[in-house]
Amino acid sequence: MNPDIKTLEDIRDIAREKLKGICGVYKDCDGDPRRVCQGQSYGKTLGIGGIGSGASFNNNFLALRKYHLKMKLINEDFIPDTKYIFFGKELAMPIMAASVAGVISFGGEKVITEENFCRSVVLGCRDAGTLGWRGDTYTYSLENSYGLNAIAEAGGWGVKIVKPRDQGTIMKFFNKAEEVRCAAVGVDVDGCGSYAMAAHNEPVYKKSIEEIKELVSSTNLPVIIKGIMCVEDALAAKEAGAAAIVVSNHGGRVLDHTPGTAEVLPSIVKELKGKIKIIVDGGIRTGYDVLKMLALGAESVLIGRDIVRASIGAGIKGVKIHMEYMQKILAKAMKMTNCKSLQEITSEVLV
Ligand SMILES: Cc1cc2nc3c(=O)[nH]c(=O)nc-3n(C[C@H](O)[C@H](O)[C@H](O)COP(=O)(O)O)c2cc1C
Repeated sequence: MNPDIKTLEDIRDIAREKLKGICGVYKDCDGDPRRVCQGQSYGKTLGIGGIGSGASFNNNFLALRKYHLKMKLINEDFIPDTKYIFFGKELAMPIMAASVAGVISFGGEKVITEENFCRSVVLGCRDAGTLGWRGDTYTYSLENSYGLNAIAEAGGWGVKIVKPRDQGTIMKFFNKAEEVRCAAVGVDVDGCGSYAMAAHNEPVYKKSIEEIKELVSSTNLPVIIKGIMCVEDALAAKEAGAAAIVVSNHGGRVLDHTPGTAEVLPSIVKELKGKIKIIVDGGIRTGYDVLKMLALGAESVLIGRDIVRASIGAGIKGVKIHMEYMQKILAKAMKMTNCKSLQEITSEVLV
């Protein structure tokens, strides 16, 4: 690794070079229709952008921008505590890397190999004191599951999310995840909208409450249901015995014209806070965004595209530096809004 790479800016400059024509590594990764990654509704392949018009991706960003933070300063000084317990593991921050898979979406193996991508995310997160989640795509199999290999190398320090494949295959992935001592497993139920899986003869399905129950009872690991965008699905996941949900529209990649996740999060929190772990992702770029999502009631957040760029920029070190930066800004935001710990973050910090 190049020792000259020291800052997040260095990392992002390298990623910008490597991702020319794929991702502009813009100051704001906002899913604006004019961005180089967008335009799928006019025939461009999905790449790293959003589906169709890109509105769902863009709405994630815009939804967060609608909230403002209340600065509250006149009291004693303190150092904010960002420590977070996730299924028994103590993390340095409530910020984890999202389950992104398929380097073909961002330039393929000449930019970064699937193996290196997974290792960068999982080991970089571990070095920053947090967890890397790993996804699933048509190039993954039980024999060659890049994400699980990286999690095994990290001594179980990771989460495995499986596409909504047939029940038997999901259970086998869960079984392997148990063997490598993953912190948790899950299914991205919104992955049933994946073109890539169907196009490569790897069918994916919608899942019923009964099927999710069957998956939950097949493993002793906590099961996470990712891709929840309405109260009904959140309640169904709870009824099926899921330990956590991720409020997510898959980064705006599976259905055009959904709201942003920050828009639907409050209604889900109102119904389910305290009854199931609520995690959220979509458009979260800074520690300030993290604070907003926690103030809206999420327990923790996932970071997708920014972690792709960090891993392409500088591998394990890039992801570590990115996550540490996220933590630093979250701590600063907590100090400026008078929150000493994560427990003290409430909707009061929003104006
Ligand atoms: C290129 C790409 C591939 C993805 N692959 C997966 C996947 O395999 N499994 C999954 O659960 N989510 C997948 N996602 C969605 C992310 O886990 C996450 O929900 C999303 O990226 C969060 O939004 P953000 O990128 O704006 O942070 C993918 C996202 C991108 C951009």
